Amino acid sequence: MLNFDFNTYQKPKKLKKYNKEIFKIKETLKNGGEMLDWYNIDNCISYEEVNKIKTISEYIKNNCELFIVVGIGGSFLGAKAIINALTPYFNKTNPEIIFAGTSLSGTYLDDLLNYMQNKQTIINVISKSGTTLETIETFTQLFQKMKQKYNDEELKQRIIITTDEKEGKLRILANSGFTSFNIPRQIGGRYSVLTTVGLLPIAVSGINIDNLLEGAKNYNQDKAFEYAIIRDILYKKKKFIEIFSIYEPKLQYFGDWLKQLFGETQGKNKKGIFPSLSINTRDLHSLGQFYQDGNPIIFETVINYKTKNNKLEELNQIAVDKVAEAHFMAGCESNIITLDELDELHLGMLIHFFEVAAATGGYLLHVNPFDQPGVNTYKDLLKKELKKGN
Ligand code: PA5
Repeated sequence: MLNFDFNTYQKPKKLKKYNKEIFKIKETLKNGGEMLDWYNIDNCISYEEVNKIKTISEYIKNNCELFIVVGIGGSFLGAKAIINALTPYFNKTNPEIIFAGTSLSGTYLDDLLNYMQNKQTIINVISKSGTTLETIETFTQLFQKMKQKYNDEELKQRIIITTDEKEGKLRILANSGFTSFNIPRQIGGRYSVLTTVGLLPIAVSGINIDNLLEGAKNYNQDKAFEYAIIRDILYKKKKFIEIFSIYEPKLQYFGDWLKQLFGETQGKNKKGIFPSLSINTRDLHSLGQFYQDGNPIIFETVINYKTKNNKLEELNQIAVDKVAEAHFMAGCESNIITLDELDELHLGMLIHFFEVAAATGGYLLHVNPFDQPGVNTYKDLLKKELKKGN
């Protein structure tokens, strides 16, 4: 179960005012259409694809020491979030899973090229467009390295391509004999964690993808709409920053996934709540000053999880309560979502809860929840500049 404590926000009369609008949004989501396939989990991935993922992930586990996932934005954040949340801090996974293509750091790539030198390696490159600079440049260099390490036949077993089913450079490469997965056309990057994009790397880490999907199907829809309304009310009260606060650092990348989900969904037409992340209690010793005493444009959403039988964890839970109390005294509302367990089922519920809340928030702001023109502006300028050089 997920427990929702929205008590510091709740204004029942104001919530009711949204009834008509929420009814329309529910209909839109239910009826489906452009970029809405993420809403029905059965449209995210078919039974056959789940089985293919299971088969290929077993192959990967048995045939490499190093599994490199190349992708950026929605093509990596969801998988990284779930793997980090559900695998141990140390001695993480076998094979080791490394994410690449998330920056243009030459140092990172050089170090990775050295690191893979003597390791049996399999690569999964993930890009819906097949044109994203960071992904394609990184993959091109890793591919060269793989060609030095393996003959053509072996190479075909060691490069897995996840991309659009018909278009793009990666699809052309995939069709020349590599194992490949299709990314559903009507699902954007930030809503794609429960598709082939996220589920293959997640399965390689040993996480149970059936339970993740089952959790997503059993999310709490009413609470997702309520949370979206509360965010909208706070936005209208000039609360322009939402801090996603976590007290379990394993959820750091889940927080980064949330930043993308809400940032790209709502931040457009000069509108939106700026999503931020606080890794507590660490950040209470730095940003805590601002939360408590700075410009009062902040509210927070805490994602809480209680581990059992651990003295330190008792202190962690006291901190969750007392920090929320202190923030509330300063006019910073705290919305607390508590997971009974940190497992596949609960993270599945949480993923879909936030996806529905983010999309609803976009509709309430009257922006298109599913485009990202701002991201495309920088991508296009970069491409133009690079063309000049050629
Ligand atoms: O949400 C989005 O659409 C973006 O953040 C993309 O995920 C990101 O830019 C990567 O794009 P692609 O998968 O086409 O390489």
